Order: sequence, then C-alpha cells, then structure tokens
Amino acid sequence: MAEKLKSYKTNSLKVYVKTFGCQMNVNDSEYIVGQLEQLGYSRTRDIFKSDLILLNTCCVRENVEQKIYSLISKIKKIKENTPSIILGICGCMAQKEKENIFKKAPYVDLIFNPSQINNLEEIINITKYGNKKYIFCENSTKFILKHIPVIRESKISAWIQIMRGCNNYCSYCVVPYTRGPEQSRGVSEILAEAENLAQENYKEIFLLGQNVNSYGKNLPESVTFSKLLTLLNNINGIERIRFMTSHPKDFNFDLIKVVKNGDKVCEHIHLPIQSGSNKILKIMNREYNVNQYKSIIKEIRSNINNISITTDVMVGFPGETEEDFQQTLNTFEEIKFDDAYTFIYSNRENTIASLMPNQVPLQVKKERLRRLINLQKEISTKINKKLEGEVLEVLVDKKSLKNIPNQLSGRTRTNKTVVFIGEQELVGKLVEVKIIKSDTWTLYGELVK
Ligand code: SAH
Ligand code: SF4
Ligand code: F3S
Repeated sequence: MAEKLKSYKTNSLKVYVKTFGCQMNVNDSEYIVGQLEQLGYSRTRDIFKSDLILLNTCCVRENVEQKIYSLISKIKKIKENTPSIILGICGCMAQKEKENIFKKAPYVDLIFNPSQINNLEEIINITKYGNKKYIFCENSTKFILKHIPVIRESKISAWIQIMRGCNNYCSYCVVPYTRGPEQSRGVSEILAEAENLAQENYKEIFLLGQNVNSYGKNLPESVTFSKLLTLLNNINGIERIRFMTSHPKDFNFDLIKVVKNGDKVCEHIHLPIQSGSNKILKIMNREYNVNQYKSIIKEIRSNINNISITTDVMVGFPGETEEDFQQTLNTFEEIKFDDAYTFIYSNRENTIASLMPNQVPLQVKKERLRRLINLQKEISTKINKKLEGEVLEVLVDKKSLKNIPNQLSGRTRTNKTVVFIGEQELVGKLVEVKIIKSDTWTLYGELVK
C-alpha cells in the first residue's frame, strides 16, 4: 500500500474543491482533501489547473442550489477543453438531486452523498479507471471517521463532528433527507480525536451536529451531550470548547451547569428560535413554543454571567401574517440576542412546508427581512457598546484581513471578533485585550501587556 501511495504521489495531480453550506460541509471537505492527498492529489485554488474538480454542495435554500447549478454550467467549458478532468458533485445537493444532475449537466462524471466522505479511495479509483458515470449515494449505517486522513484549514481551531443527520423533520427543511437519520459518533472516537488535536497544538475544538442536545441517543453506551462535554473538558492542551447547534426542544438544563462549570466550555450558545409566533412554530414542527424558548433563555442567563446567545430565524414562512412577524420582532426586542442568522423562507421541493397554502410573496419576505435585520443590528451594536472598557480573553486566530501591518484578529470566549495590533507570533495564543471601540459586528481593542 505504501508503495502504491508513493507512486501516486509522484503524479502530483491537482484537485480543486469548492465548499458551500455549513461548517459540517467545511469539515467534510477537510476529510475529502485529506484522503485525496493520500491518493496523490494536491489542492489547487486554480480551477483551470485541476485534474479533479469537486463541488461540495448545499441545498438548504433555493438560491444556493441555483448558484451551484450555474457554477456547474460554467465548468462545462473547462470539461470541453480538457475532457480528462473529473467533475464530481458531492454534499447535500448531490443527495437531493442525484441523477437530475446528470440530466441537467451530462458532463458531470461523479455524484456522491455526505455519508460517503470516508470512502474517497474507492470512489476516485472506480471513477478514474471506469468509463461511465457514477453515483455513490447509499447511506452508511455507522458514523466512523477514525483513521480517515484529514487536512484541516486551521491550525488553531478544529471542527469535530459528533453526530450527523437529523430526525426532526422541521416542515421546511431538507437536511433529514440529505444527511439521513441521526447518528452519534462513539465517545471514545471523539475523545481520541480531541486528544490528537491537543497533541497537534490545537487550542480550540468546535463540536458539530444538527442537534447536539440529542447526542448519544442511538449509542449503546449511556451518554449525554453534557457528559461528553465534561469528558472533553478534561483534555490537557485544549483551551476552548464550542458546540453547535442546540435544538430548544431537546435542551437539557444539565448543559447550563457544564457551560458554567467547565472552564474550557465557552460562554456562547447558539439556539435557533426560527420564529416568534407560536402558530408558525407549530406548523414548522419545532415542538416548542415561544414561552418555553424564553424560559430556557432565562435559565441560561440567570446561571451564566455574560453568556452570549445567538440564533437562527426565518421570515415569510407559509401563513406568516404581519401579526406573526410582529411577534418575531417583539420576541427579538425582548430577548436581545447577541447576533442572529436571518433567512428568507425558501421553498424546498418535497418538504411539507412547500405544500402549505398561503405562501408569502417575495417582496413581503424581503421587506420583513430588512426590518428584522435593522432591529438586530441595533441590538448587536448596543450589546457590543457595553463591552467597551472591558478586558477580554481572546484566542488569536489570524492576521486581520484588512491590509494594516500587524493587525490581528481573534475571538472572545463569547465568539465575538476582536481586532487589535500585535505581533504575528501571537497567532494561536490566548491574550488579553482591552476593548476600546465597537461596532455591530466587531470589537476593536489594545493588547494588555
Ligand atoms: N439543525 C439546525 C439548523 C440547520 S439548517 C437547527 O435545527 O437549528 C440552518 C438554518 O437554516 C436553520 O436554522 C434555518 O433557520 C435555516 N433554514 C433551514 N431550512 C430553510 C429553508 N427552507 N428556508 C430558509 N431557511 C432555512
Ligand atoms: Fe433541519 Fe430541523 Fe433538523 Fe435543524 S432540526 S436540521 S432545521 S430538520
Ligand atoms: Fe449543511 Fe447545507 Fe447540508 S446547511 S447540512 S450543507 S443542506
């Protein structure tokens, strides 16, 4: 095997990978690239220099799917000029669309779904030496990533998938269909991965799952998400633990204790609310109401000082009236999230919501989105303003993108971006920064010596 890998390596083939969608997809691409490197490919950012093009796709909203189809059609020219290039479509849209992709773009060679991300050697070898089109979209029954090579984009913060799939079937959402049923990864596999990361000097781990609060449900061992966090909190070297996403319906108050007492578990909870109207939450099949949501927030805030809470929210769900939307605005006024990912509801084929009456016109959705974003901006700006003068712990993750010499950027424990001047050597370190200025999205500060 080693011989085989070595001979592949001398081929120095190039792969171009473009990732759409959520952090889960970003991490999937890191596994894809890791395996491809072992197969002799190195990553290129120049699509015209590639031997293999992989688009790791998302289809949670229609606009991203359209964008991907339009990119696929642009790649047609590249394929016509160099037919030997392999064009592969993977990720959630691959699972949703399957052979439809071949129908729309017959020059695509390969389609594989997210549960095949640990199977790249077989997939690439079959495609490379075969002469037909391939679809690998079976859902594997076990979620194992142990021993799968991975090339991570960051050397400081690492994603760890603790579960995949989803069983919740919110009426608007494609994820249960694209990622399959919920599966948790075994505790020992996750702990081993975190320990390796600590040895490689990673400072932060970011646990990923569609609904981390239901972690462990399908495992033979008896373990909860809070227990997993407690175990991870004991790993030497890791300084920070983050996680996403918590579903309010499975929120367990034990988690509050772990965030409060686990010194590494960061004071940030992302808890998607989706709507402030009980009527809409019910037809979304979210299985909580606004009062239940608010009592979780109250409990979190009364136990953990300075916790930041962020959310996801949608406007223009079918049947959402101006009054329902007003309830979302009122709920936002009352809760005061640190930040919110705001979305226009997008109709996804074959979901229950797509069949519902009273779809909201696009103009109305856009107008509601604008009002909600304006409100959230005001709230985020005020919350950040209050941090001026405070000294906060910052994990420096990169040179700031703006072209100012020695400008660094990092994150507070509450996941706020802080920009300040400092030496390059501080990247990867924890430092103290005094906040001098703030705006809606960013804090600006000075390094405390
Ligand atoms: N598992 C997470 C969400 C994953 S999808 C949870 O349940 O909270 C990320 C976000 O995309 C969702 O929170 C939702 O706000 C948004 N989303 C999902 N489907 C959508 C759709 N059809 N239209 C618009 N936004 C959608
Ligand atoms: Fe989609 Fe709901 Fe599952 Fe989140 S919990 S992934 S919104 S079905
Ligand atoms: Fe993520 Fe998009 Fe799939 S949000 S789970 S890549 S549909």
